[in-house]
Amino acid sequence: MCGIVGYVGPQQAAPILMDSLCRLEYRGYDSAGIAVRDGDGHTTVVKAKGRLKVLSEKIDGGRTLKGCIGIGHTRWATHGEPNEANAHPHISGSEPDDSAVVGVHNGIIENYAELKEKLVKAGYIFYSQTDTEVAVKLVDYYYKKYPTPSKAIAKAMMRIRGSYALAILFNDHQNQIWTARKDSPMIIGVTKGETFIASDVPAILKYTQDIYYVGNCEMACVEAGKVSFFNIDEEQLEKETVHITWDANAAERGGFEHFMIKEIHEQPKALQDTLNSLLNDGRLDITKSGITPEIARGISEISIVACGSAWHVGMAAKYVIEDIARIPVRVDVASEFRYHCPILQENALVIVISQSGETADSLAALREAKSRGIRTLAILNVLGSSIAREADHVLYTLAGPEIAVATTKAYSAQMLIGYVLAVELAFERGVIDEEKYKYYIAQLQTLPDKAEGLLEDKERIQWFASKFSTAHDAFFIGRGIDYAVALEGSLKMKEVSYVHSEAYAAGELKHGTISLIEDGTLLVGILTQNSLYEKTVSNMVECKTRGAYLMAVATAGHYDIEDTADFTIYVPNIDEHFAGSLTVIPLQLFGYYSSVSRGLDVDKPRNLAKSVTVE
Ligand code: AGP
Repeated sequence: MCGIVGYVGPQQAAPILMDSLCRLEYRGYDSAGIAVRDGDGHTTVVKAKGRLKVLSEKIDGGRTLKGCIGIGHTRWATHGEPNEANAHPHISGSEPDDSAVVGVHNGIIENYAELKEKLVKAGYIFYSQTDTEVAVKLVDYYYKKYPTPSKAIAKAMMRIRGSYALAILFNDHQNQIWTARKDSPMIIGVTKGETFIASDVPAILKYTQDIYYVGNCEMACVEAGKVSFFNIDEEQLEKETVHITWDANAAERGGFEHFMIKEIHEQPKALQDTLNSLLNDGRLDITKSGITPEIARGISEISIVACGSAWHVGMAAKYVIEDIARIPVRVDVASEFRYHCPILQENALVIVISQSGETADSLAALREAKSRGIRTLAILNVLGSSIAREADHVLYTLAGPEIAVATTKAYSAQMLIGYVLAVELAFERGVIDEEKYKYYIAQLQTLPDKAEGLLEDKERIQWFASKFSTAHDAFFIGRGIDYAVALEGSLKMKEVSYVHSEAYAAGELKHGTISLIEDGTLLVGILTQNSLYEKTVSNMVECKTRGAYLMAVATAGHYDIEDTADFTIYVPNIDEHFAGSLTVIPLQLFGYYSSVSRGLDVDKPRNLAKSVTVE
């Protein structure tokens, strides 16, 4: 959460910082600010409450600020309400001109109250409620004692508990930006004579695809066209760049009104690319993750850990893996897993699913599993992310950069990896034979085209969404895999259109929640599992009897559903295990068009941020 950018080079920094911040606004958007140092060595800080465009208007897109070095920040508030005083950058002094040290921060400093007390005793005067101001003043405090940036930052790092990515300007070191991080990402790109820093790849993809990752508890000194890395003992480190294959244009809207609808349309490609990366000569191959057939055969149970939509993928994967591979699977929300000391067998495999690879709770869950000596596999979209660097094994979704806060294409690609794991583990463990193995692969290969076909039906969904744009409540129900997809459909609805929505296992509804159904309440039933079809239809009828308006998402062929449902979307036939990848598409479109009909900011829903790097 929060986006950080920095630039040092021959060009004017402010327009570059604003451009890069635009690409990071999905990480936080309640306030923003930049600090630029001019040729006379004077650093100007400008901040604004609200979206980035408010800041941009204040400084004419950056053109009113002169100087070739600077840092910028877009904020998702943790400590202190979103206002101008709390916006970053923060300064070491109490007056605007008193800026010996200026910094931006991403993360949470857990012991900020104790550090603040110490600094107040030392004479510091605070103007904001943020933990970031504490961090900046702490660096300044140590800089006054040990006047080298590396020593001051290292001393501060030793005192700070929590997570942080920091970018800092020292007035005494006019041509340098210093960065440091722990459990919050920070990357650096160096091109000819210029250096860029950012908390996330899309911010600087336009300038370079060769990225340095600042490691955990490391610092970097950034100058025009060069960077030096240090550990917390101030020893210099050698690093190699990682080449990012994402196309710079992939982080642009490319003619679509919003990133979310663009990314919904990119799902067939995300499915195809991800599947291709796991196919070798017509057979599935996960060995590049380091999971060998021997390892696959030795797994006694699987524990899936994730947050939000990635957790929903885990819920679907549980049904698929248990049914196809007959391995017991448990699924935990990462924020629960990390603290409740789950019982795990010695030969368990813990799978962490995350688009960003930076989600704080998922990272902590991974560490918890590793600390107990349990093998870990991460399913990730972002190369080189924190989870990627710590997991024993990694499988990547090839979804490309996902910018909209509401995930769509990463979810679909993660689901696909869940299917691949199920089929591969089943085959390696002798649970399915060669014929069944080939059947499943052939079915998976039909997914991209079937997903493409579903996108052609979007006008009907758009019409239906506009009809229901004033709805207050919606319920999504299904059984088995359909329940797992109901969870995701419901989340899409509430996160982007702010319609209160709940997902229920269809059979569970009448144990309490059905009391909320009244005239006109929207109920979405998902019906792709043949053996459960009639049961879910009965649950839908029970709601209709009580006044609900029914939308059905059913497999083609079940045309009798139109006798019950008021509006139906059909998805193509596919092996039932994989149907979730198709049913989710109309649900994503429904959430998207509901948001558009309500005139909301689809890509940046209120209170949210794309990657949740704090607890
Ligand atoms: C879903 O639309 C949200 N963006 C959110 O639930 C997300 O899936 C969750 O925060 C996990 O993020 P991750 O995949 O980056 O770990």
